[in-house]
Amino acid sequence: MKSNVDVILNKEALTREDLISLLSADKADTEKIFKKSAEIREREVGNKVYFRGLIEFSNICSKNCYYCGIRSGNKNTDRYILSKQEALSGIQYAFDHDFASIVLQSGEKSDKRFIDTITDILHEIKNLSNGELGVTLSCGEQTEGTYQRWFEAGAHRYLLRIEESNPILYKNLHPNDIKHEYNNRIDALKLLRKTGYQVGTGVMIGLPFQTIEDLADDLLFFKKMDIDMAGMGPYIEHKDTPLYRFKDQLMSKEDRFQLSLKMYALLRILIKDINMAATTALQTLHPKGRELALKIGCNVLMPNLTPLKYRDSYLLYNDKPAINEEAKESHKKLEANIINAGLELGYGVWGDSKHFAKRSFKR
Ligand code: 5AD
Ligand code: SF4
Repeated sequence: MKSNVDVILNKEALTREDLISLLSADKADTEKIFKKSAEIREREVGNKVYFRGLIEFSNICSKNCYYCGIRSGNKNTDRYILSKQEALSGIQYAFDHDFASIVLQSGEKSDKRFIDTITDILHEIKNLSNGELGVTLSCGEQTEGTYQRWFEAGAHRYLLRIEESNPILYKNLHPNDIKHEYNNRIDALKLLRKTGYQVGTGVMIGLPFQTIEDLADDLLFFKKMDIDMAGMGPYIEHKDTPLYRFKDQLMSKEDRFQLSLKMYALLRILIKDINMAATTALQTLHPKGRELALKIGCNVLMPNLTPLKYRDSYLLYNDKPAINEEAKESHKKLEANIINAGLELGYGVWGDSKHFAKRSFKR
């Protein structure tokens, strides 16, 4: 018998109500959603999974988000910034192993020294790889001039999570000051697009106070912003953050995990040809987290190439996996994830967002 979910999945366009129904689907219906999203992935972006070597460049952050373990107010974290040599050794690993792309991620800073350092490293990456390594930046809100400078220095993708698209929820999860303005974050996403980046954003799933309606709106927000890439993942509590005191109100880890998978699948159904990362936080909630996410529509993995000695200082949330795992070990595990998911290793190609390519072509 056809269920409501069968009917919705056959529609051309999904409404807010449709998304709410799908997000609330039971186990049997959820399998149908996953089947559909896997089909769409295969048809629209193929079976390759691309690697983005992740360098967690610095955990120094001028912001104080209530959920994050490296917030400026957390005095229990040793702060670091990688030396150029340390960053470049991770980048060299990526280049030598045919990853084709890296992600430079850091806490948010906007002083001249930080901006110059990132610019310098971007130039070094291009030199080291004869321009072959693609670069994604994830360094927070910056001015248009800074975005432009980094773009000219060789970065061509940028990840800036909106974290939650509901402005009220955003306000509840951030200090109420000029540094944490919802509208500034939206403006930053628009500036990134204007500068020419492939733009990625995302949200945390299973936050305290977050509703299914909020998540449906998050999906519609991604559609409205016409994003090229997505990086979303489950919220996981960190004991040195203000949000920790709401830990008893959270969904169970299993439910947060299932809901995250549903969000990936629905986003794949909604914007068919974007790049979507299976994020590390998934693995904290489920031993096969990344593999399952790949099966139902994710097509990007980010092996961690941060030097081991800094890993336990980049703890955005508790129980972050692989903090003692050498690059080689985590690389091999991710390869196994891809093979086990029945997908192909996307070595040696940038694997840019097809969504971006199509938009650029239309212009
Ligand atoms: N749980 C899950 N993800 C988190 N992030 C920050 N804190 C947490 C947490 N407690 C995510 C944010 C940020 C990214 C770098 O890490 O979404 O954008
Ligand atoms: Fe800084 Fe990002 Fe953490 Fe907020 S989420 S405190 S901006 S690193």
